[in-house]
Amino acid sequence: MTMIFAHRGFSGYYPENTMLAFQKVAEETKADGIELDIQLTKDGEIVIMHDEMLDRTTNGSGLLKEHTLEELKMLSVGVNIKGFFPRQTIPTMREYFEWLKTTKLITNIELKTSIFEYEGIEEKLIAMVKEYGLEEQVWYSSFNHYTIARIKKLMPEAKCGLLMDTWLVNVGDYAASQGAASVNSRSYFCLKEGVAADLHKHGIILQAWTPNDEELMQQLIDAGTDILITNFPDKAAKVIGR
Ligand code: G3P
Ligand code: MG
Repeated sequence: MTMIFAHRGFSGYYPENTMLAFQKVAEETKADGIELDIQLTKDGEIVIMHDEMLDRTTNGSGLLKEHTLEELKMLSVGVNIKGFFPRQTIPTMREYFEWLKTTKLITNIELKTSIFEYEGIEEKLIAMVKEYGLEEQVWYSSFNHYTIARIKKLMPEAKCGLLMDTWLVNVGDYAASQGAASVNSRSYFCLKEGVAADLHKHGIILQAWTPNDEELMQQLIDAGTDILITNFPDKAAKVIGR
């Protein structure tokens, strides 16, 4: 049965990567999980945000990594979104984990280490997952496959997804060689004939980002995709028939 993950929270209707968008997944959808993105502040705190720059989603500017957590907490998130929402700030990983442990949702944490590698982010994250006892609820993904290798070294049983945006040949062999639990690809590659079957042959699942319309969701399901990572988990639930 295909699973549904809410991309950056319920970001189709609420400001992405905010506690509001995460809480709404639990309150208003039938999603199985949440996908979110993490970065590291100047003073080494893990925070939840997609962009390296503050400009698009907050009322701040410049690089996130050049600000301390105290400075970042003064900013508002979602200033680009139409609608009236309670003021949101950049969530910390700790804030999120405090909430996550009150739910049964799985979380796919995407480590945004492709532009800046954020040395030590993997160690910090794994230590925090263990501290909160969330080993079963947290999965990991990154476009930087060296990050995935570091996660696997720190926690061999970790469920890791290799993010990709390319037409990789022999994807099943490659993903298996990395000890991956999943390949998380842009939709076009998930639709390529044979890709899902190749992965399944290796016991690896396929996650697609970011199908936001029903027709594409159905095509992905028909192609054998295991998880839809979407801004609209409500639409995905209808397509799947929940
Ligand atoms: O993890 C899937 C997807 O989030 C990857 O792309 O840019 O939305 O983080 P992006
Ligand atoms: Mg992401």
